[in-house]
Amino acid sequence: MPVNVPFIDLKSQYEEVKGTLDPAIAEILSTGAYVLGKYNKELEETIANRHGVKHAICVNSGTDALRIAMQACDIGSGDEVITTAFTFVATAETVVQLGAIPVFVDIDRETMCIDPAKIEAAITAKTKAILPVHLFGQLADVTAIKAIAEKHNLLILEDSAQNIYSHHNGTYTGNFGIASGISFYVTKNLGAAGDGGMILTNDDEVHRRCLSLRIHGMGRERYYYDEVGYTSRLAELQAAVLVSKIVRLDDWHENRNRIANYYLDALKYADLILPRTYEGNNHVWHQFTIQSDKRDGLMEHLKEKGIGSAIFYPVPLHLHSPYAMYANGEGSLPITEIVSKQCLSIPVHQHMTIEQAEYVANEIKAFVGLKQVAQA
Ligand SMILES: Cc1ncc(COP(=O)(O)O)c(C=O)c1O
Repeated sequence: MPVNVPFIDLKSQYEEVKGTLDPAIAEILSTGAYVLGKYNKELEETIANRHGVKHAICVNSGTDALRIAMQACDIGSGDEVITTAFTFVATAETVVQLGAIPVFVDIDRETMCIDPAKIEAAITAKTKAILPVHLFGQLADVTAIKAIAEKHNLLILEDSAQNIYSHHNGTYTGNFGIASGISFYVTKNLGAAGDGGMILTNDDEVHRRCLSLRIHGMGRERYYYDEVGYTSRLAELQAAVLVSKIVRLDDWHENRNRIANYYLDALKYADLILPRTYEGNNHVWHQFTIQSDKRDGLMEHLKEKGIGSAIFYPVPLHLHSPYAMYANGEGSLPITEIVSKQCLSIPVHQHMTIEQAEYVANEIKAFVGLKQVAQA
């Protein structure tokens, strides 16, 4: 039995791609083609093709992807944007940075994504957009969210930071709203050697503005500015890392899926809540997140057994001081709050073996025990 199951394994990723990556890095360094070169272009084309979107724009991070996309959609001062508090801070941070107002809606207990049944009650005359977070590798309930957005004439901006290559019945993220933001942060399913991100859109005008915003709002002419923008180019060295890895992504996702399916079966009687996948979604298993009322003890137990785990997210956004003013304090988002107290992400990555997953599942079962079955 394995004695060590790391939460993530970046070294094995590098070993797998070093044959193409090392020469690419050497080529960039020796030619000086450091900025917005052929690797940026190849990355944009590859992802736009797979996602079936018209435009992909490389930027410096997933955070910038969200901020720039929202600005390009004219989200700004006083606009309300409906999202969740069970997410990485960038989701709401970018809304606030644009002068808009995040409106937090509670989540579904098992999918941990925004609960569409609670969205309509949060819509006001100021609501401009819904910003669903496609959490942990699956899309939120896009069918329901799209129906609500159409009924109330709202934009949808997708936080797809964790969702490269994920789709709903063959329609990929980037096609459910006006724009979508992906992250290439180190730990993502497709991770750079640092920060990176991408905007996807089918809208020509949003595309034009994103291209301009990533270089300070520069217009068609060099050193002439149309609006206040950002420094947000994706370094060519990072694009080369991503291009070298993306050819492996389908296989990597297959392994994540194999491990996740193993857990779903092995843990089905364990006394915990397993993640649920919406009908029609393919899940790319960025995280495999269980919920247990013995979470903290379980984490400690796994650590003692050499198994990595992590808490995403220990405190929901509405309970952090910069975001508290946008909600009604503790108790206002009950499902979000309980999931934050009970969630634990366990190892699921491209280089894990079933033997390791079996070891993890056995240690979880040994600690939490079996579900109590109701007596007939
Ligand atoms: C849900 C979510 N949104 C936004 C981001 C921001 O992406 P980045 O870290 O690349 O800026 C992340 C990244 O961790 C994320 O998980």
